[in-house]
Amino acid sequence: AAIDRVIDASTLSVSDTEQTHAARDDVAELVLETDVPLALDPHEAVALTGRFVLVDNRITAGGGIVLEPVVARPSGKSDNITQSQGQVTSGDRARRNRHRGAVVWLTGLSGAGKSTIAHSVERVLFERGHQVTVLDGDNLRFGLNGDLGFSPGDREENIRRVAEVARLFADSGQIVVTALISPYRESRARARAIAAAAEVPFIEVFVKAPLETCEARDPKQLYQRARAGEIKDFTGIDAPYEEPEQPEVVLDTASRTLGQVTSLLAEAVLTRVRL
Ligand code: ADX
Repeated sequence: AAIDRVIDASTLSVSDTEQTHAARDDVAELVLETDVPLALDPHEAVALTGRFVLVDNRITAGGGIVLEPVVARPSGKSDNITQSQGQVTSGDRARRNRHRGAVVWLTGLSGAGKSTIAHSVERVLFERGHQVTVLDGDNLRFGLNGDLGFSPGDREENIRRVAEVARLFADSGQIVVTALISPYRESRARARAIAAAAEVPFIEVFVKAPLETCEARDPKQLYQRARAGEIKDFTGIDAPYEEPEQPEVVLDTASRTLGQVTSLLAEAVLTRVRL
């Protein structure tokens, strides 16, 4: 995407900061953009996953080490933009609120209990004087995400937008509880990376209930309609749900009451936002 600087390969000194072209055998610091997200580490932290080789038509064309993995802006369509800094820091806000902002990311099947738990824990944290708000998948699809359906690409964009909004809210001091199916591990990892880039704590919560339980509950009669073929790409029926591998919290809603899982989650959140 860009060449930051070209380095003299024999002395490793910066040869020309203005140089925007790297020739064969040159060494340069550059921004590499990939079509798909890659899992990389800074070379300094983990050498093995911090280096790469570029192969062009089976011939090695180059290689490098990762200085800084970044989550790119999705389209990179806006050029010539710079970040402006405010005077009120997230530390200032945290001191005033007496707790930090955070993203509490609920994931699970439709009917697992995400929205119910989100609103229940919101009530509890609110009563305790905390700044807290809920971003609910269904609700957001009435507005911000009204242009998105349920294809893998649309779901990914859905998650990305909510992750960005959640990070903004968390940056402004809120504990943000999100309630979206968010069926793909990779999208959830991106949501985590978006929070991490703003140094916002991210708590992934697996709202766990077997498909049969969710289907038996069927609060919106959607499973029934999906089974009848009236709804396509329904999560758990003909679209996948990838369970979290290492969530911070697991809430088993098949064997525990709403009160129990709410207290469990409230405690888990409080310990992580405490100053
Ligand atoms: S996500 O997969 O992109 O995270 P999200 O949480 O926003 O989904 O929306 C899921 C809600 O949309 C469900 O609770 C349900 O009410 C509704 N819905 C409608 N069609 C589908 C579908 N094909 N798959 C899953 N949920 C659907």
